[in-house]
Amino acid sequence: MGFSTRLKVANLLGFLVLIFTELVSGRFVVEKNSLRVTSPDSIKGTHDSAIGNFGIPQYGGSMAGTVVYPKDNKKGCKSFDDFGISFKAKPGAMPNFVLVDRGDCFFALKVWNAQNAGAAAVLVADDIAEALITMDSPEEDHASEKYIANITIPSALVDKSFGEQLKKAISGGDMVNVNLDWREAVPHPDDRVEYELWTNSNDECGVKCDMLMEFVKDFKGAAQILEKGGYTQFTPHYITWYCPQAFTISKQCKSQCINHGRYCAPDPEQDFSIGYEGKDVVLENLRQLCVFKVANETKKPWVWWDYVTDFQIRCPMKEKKYNKECADNVIRSLGLDLKKIEKCMGDPEADSDNPVLKEEQDAQVGKGSRGDVTILPTLVVNNRQYRGKLEKGAVLKALCAGFEETTEPSVCLSGDVETNECLDNNGGCWIDKTANITACKDTFRGRVCECPVVNGVQFKGDGYTSCVASGPGRCKISNGGCWHENRNGITFTACVDDDVGKCKCPPGFKGDGVKSCDVCNATPLSDLALNSLYIQSFMSG
Ligand SMILES: *[C@@H]1O[C@H](CO)[C@@H](O)[C@H](O)[C@H]1NC(C)=O
Ligand SMILES: *[C@@H]1O[C@H](CO)[C@@H](O)[C@H](O)[C@H]1NC(C)=O
Ligand SMILES: *[C@@H]1O[C@H](CO)[C@@H](O)[C@H](O)[C@H]1NC(C)=O
Repeated sequence: MGFSTRLKVANLLGFLVLIFTELVSGRFVVEKNSLRVTSPDSIKGTHDSAIGNFGIPQYGGSMAGTVVYPKDNKKGCKSFDDFGISFKAKPGAMPNFVLVDRGDCFFALKVWNAQNAGAAAVLVADDIAEALITMDSPEEDHASEKYIANITIPSALVDKSFGEQLKKAISGGDMVNVNLDWREAVPHPDDRVEYELWTNSNDECGVKCDMLMEFVKDFKGAAQILEKGGYTQFTPHYITWYCPQAFTISKQCKSQCINHGRYCAPDPEQDFSIGYEGKDVVLENLRQLCVFKVANETKKPWVWWDYVTDFQIRCPMKEKKYNKECADNVIRSLGLDLKKIEKCMGDPEADSDNPVLKEEQDAQVGKGSRGDVTILPTLVVNNRQYRGKLEKGAVLKALCAGFEETTEPSVCLSGDVETNECLDNNGGCWIDKTANITACKDTFRGRVCECPVVNGVQFKGDGYTSCVASGPGRCKISNGGCWHENRNGITFTACVDDDVGKCKCPPGFKGDGVKSCDVCNATPLSDLALNSLYIQSFMSG
């Protein structure tokens, strides 16, 4: 099913040809995450698996679970409810990863059914011995539109022989534990993340166009923060096709192409007699490329996001406003140089190359670790194709995974990419329930147990079993974890407000300073009070 998109596109266009199919070397690179079996020993080890092109991979993170192979509905094409099967993990148990067999229905439907039955992730076992392929979402299928957008769990395809090993271990009564790991799914060569979005200005192509527009609108804010901060370098791209020489004067190519058949797009309605034509889409795509070029030249590449979202709102096909006049109004309102943009677009009637679109066609061909771009929309992060749902939080996670740990910008640690693991059992980290202080911190990489800073006071420790306030001010917080006691209206404390973070019984007292300090024999309390430097001066605090 992974390759079906290309075939479908070819069918739909009739004559139009994706430029690189001519180049023979067309490559489709499958993006992988690693799957590590941690038990049983007999199949322990790391395997490749191909990330599904829907759902939400945990970029930058990892996830552990127990593999379950259902007794019935092994292909997952029907609702598991009908078989009385549930994959909900019992409290405290590891989440269930459901293994289903390939075949009989869309990949996405299997994942959707498993998610509804409580699965935390899905592994699809290939039924053909072949190299891994990408599980893509079905296109032009109205039944699937309803659920595709609601898939939130990650999924991965495993090869046939590994699938059989898993099944054998499970049927043999072994508990099979695996770790899915997306930490290396995005390379991080430097402190700037480069990413590209292969997009389309067509707003009438059904669920994929709606999803793309929704994403651009949602993601704009984060994209602009990242770009303005110099954390990312973003480039938009547009796919075009060409019309084979023999057909350039045909009616189809004339309506779908500009520059004498050199740059084409499918008719938005797939009907040559009504509405907009393919060439209208090519022209708007070209305009959006030129908006980016001109904005980029003035060192404000992020204006592209404003143009594209404004154009969507102000110039939709539905209202018959998808045209030059409307576009020019948007360009003017954003203060962009219209003359420069027109110059960049060139003459669409000319029987010659357009340098901007030529560059796009060349860029479609894969290079290095990135395969050909065949699926629209496609997001490429640090030269790897992104797989998974095109949704703000998920994409931000993938971009953030492109930074070295600790160099990520603060937007990566914001609510949109938090994993909320701290809500569950405090993430297994240290907690002081009385003071409501915890070492658990949600990040896009999953939770970390890190001793916190509270009111300027640094806590130190392993973050799991202990964190102790240290340094100046530490005695103000839970008395620095030290003994303290009120005697005859005077509070004595074993906390010393210095850097050491130790507890020491005040003069005249003996003990460990944490649990107890006892008065040494025969010291009158009044003397203690006078001698002691340790009398708490902040009895209210
Ligand atoms: C998908 O989610 C939306 C919003 O959360 C909901 O309205 C819709 O019914 C869901 N679709 C299905 C098929 O569950
Ligand atoms: C955008 O500008 C930067 C330099 O400011 C340049 O490196 C980059 O190649 C430009 N991108 C495009 C697509 O022109
Ligand atoms: C503890 O602190 C968190 C935020 O710091 C707050 O949301 C929560 O309500 C607090 N809980 C209690 C019991 O005070």
